[in-house]
Amino acid sequence: MKQNNEILQKIESLRQQLREYDYQYYVLDAPTVPDSIYDTLFQQLLQLEKDHPQYQDPNSPTQRVGGAPISAFDRIVHINPMLSIDNVFDPSALMAFAKRLSERLDQSEVLYCCEPKLDGLALSLQYEDGKLVCAGTRGDGINGEDITHNARTIAEIPLILHAENPPKNVEIRGEVYMSKAVFNRLNAEARQKGDKVFANPRNAAAGSVRQLDPRITKARQLSFFPYTIAAISQEYTLNPSHYAGLQALREWGFKVNPDIKRVQNIEACQTYYEELLARRASLAYDCDGIVIKVDSLALQTQLGVATRAPRWVVAYKFPAEEALTQLTEVEWQVGRTGTLTPVARLEPVFVGGATVSNATLHNSDEIARKDIRIGDTVIVRRAGDVIPEIVAPVLASRGSNTHAIPLPRHCPVCKSPVYKLAEEAAIRCMAGLYCSAQRKEALRHYASRKAMDIEGLGDKLVDQLVGHALVHSPADIYRLDLNALANLDRMGIKSADNILQSIEFSKKTTFARFLYALGIREVGETTAKTLAQHFESLDALYVASPEDLMAVNDIGPVVAAHVHAFFKQKHNKEVISAILAAGVNWPKPQISLAQPFKGQTFVITGTLTSLSREEVKARLEALGAKVSNSVSKKTQALIVGDVPGSKLDKAEALHVPILNEADFLALLERQR
Ligand code: IVH
Repeated sequence: MKQNNEILQKIESLRQQLREYDYQYYVLDAPTVPDSIYDTLFQQLLQLEKDHPQYQDPNSPTQRVGGAPISAFDRIVHINPMLSIDNVFDPSALMAFAKRLSERLDQSEVLYCCEPKLDGLALSLQYEDGKLVCAGTRGDGINGEDITHNARTIAEIPLILHAENPPKNVEIRGEVYMSKAVFNRLNAEARQKGDKVFANPRNAAAGSVRQLDPRITKARQLSFFPYTIAAISQEYTLNPSHYAGLQALREWGFKVNPDIKRVQNIEACQTYYEELLARRASLAYDCDGIVIKVDSLALQTQLGVATRAPRWVVAYKFPAEEALTQLTEVEWQVGRTGTLTPVARLEPVFVGGATVSNATLHNSDEIARKDIRIGDTVIVRRAGDVIPEIVAPVLASRGSNTHAIPLPRHCPVCKSPVYKLAEEAAIRCMAGLYCSAQRKEALRHYASRKAMDIEGLGDKLVDQLVGHALVHSPADIYRLDLNALANLDRMGIKSADNILQSIEFSKKTTFARFLYALGIREVGETTAKTLAQHFESLDALYVASPEDLMAVNDIGPVVAAHVHAFFKQKHNKEVISAILAAGVNWPKPQISLAQPFKGQTFVITGTLTSLSREEVKARLEALGAKVSNSVSKKTQALIVGDVPGSKLDKAEALHVPILNEADFLALLERQR
């Protein structure tokens, strides 16, 4: 019996400890223990719970991983209905809201709490004696769905409140959401696997919460911000301010949105709105406006509820990031490596603060997955500076005048046949530099800042140079003359001369930049640097086999194959030779730091006192040297210990430098 008690105590203390670590990690963003320790304790607890199933507890930190799937959702009834909020869209409507308030309250200024309006899904959480007992969706405001099994997997929802004396009962409401970072990552992964992508973070959050299998919810890495204490046991007294309530929630272990602010008057709400709108794109979460609440709970009660929504709160909406419009046409744009990207032409629509008439459709797989047709009404999304995209067609309004988007069979620019490789999502024009679109992109890339950095050789000039057949390959850049340039549109002698100067100036470069500029598929800046460092010269790359390439850190079979194929092509070698002949150059590598003795041969004779012969050999080889048994004219130095042999005589005869033990140790020391 006593032993059982001890086990329970151990279990409880592990749970307490892990809860504290969770709180520090998820809520305070300040982890105090390394993951390895956390994992060890977690495993201990798992094992104890497994060995003693009588001590299982749904609120144990181990239950976060997601229990067994359920077969259907239970219905829950919201005793206090989850109401909606009235919206305003401009400053004058906001002022009208404030005026209505002050008339009803007969008081001119009230304190407001301003909060980001998160675009997720409302949740109601019930805690009994500080323990999470039920989590439900809003549903229609009265009836929601019981998703407790899923809420338990959301790290930012405490399973047990951090309070010595928690209220007997408390209902907390807030928004469950998916951060932009998680959304982008999950979508990128889905795209790569050819799976369905989420339309937006809101849909992703909603879909993830409404899963029968909590392990799926867990994998979606949802977040949660509470925004109100909706009900609390009567005997529990709270500060009668909404903002103070949020502070209590923070103490109880919730992560409260740090962007929430209490302000003095309605003008300050307008300022808050403008400031948050300016930061919208850089916020970690999707946000469709702000929610403005009267801070005093007494005033909230006094104002009460109108037919649809409370009178003490208003949502001040941001301009929509999604809008409906018509898809009129699809064009295929050819990229540098021949990828054809479908671009939707749209009836211009104002969305996310700009007029949008083009949007990306990513690739043909995505068109198929989303079932998008020409003539469809589509949802366009433009968030921040991100390229506008088509979220989905509105199937309900699809008419008979729509038709499937034809897949191209020929390159829209050079008319060569196009291919779709089995392992790729992209359709590709394989014509390489024969295709003027790819030529242009290759030149843009070659001249770009991180590549050869030829100032002034931008998009417009490249279009003209390729258009007038002045430049076919990067090598032709170095054959341009003043006349040819000066005769182009919007050019004169002066600007032509500037271009020639910056071409000249750019000739002095680095090997890594040059490799990057060549635009070899899959070779970005980092890979180019790695290649440059490892191979040091073009000659070495010309003869490198795919195996040699794969032997380099971070270079896998795909990159190796592309690099190998590139340097095997006669045409590429010719272009490179012409570029080098034009004077492009880079500093030859210094003897690399790690291998200062590369190419040097040492010979040892006699015995050293501090190092064995094997150790001497290993040290030298680590520095790039070779160790040989016989002295020749090419020997870098002879290392001499006690009782040297005939090698010493030979070295003296050949004037090979001789190092005694102290000299040798000093030499090693200098290489550190
Ligand atoms: S307060 C009666 N605060 O917006 C007031 N709602 O139509 C209850 N929302 O679905 C809501 N962020 O889920 C409030 N800081 C916030 C919010 C917020 C997002 C959602 C809420 C509801 C909708 C209101």
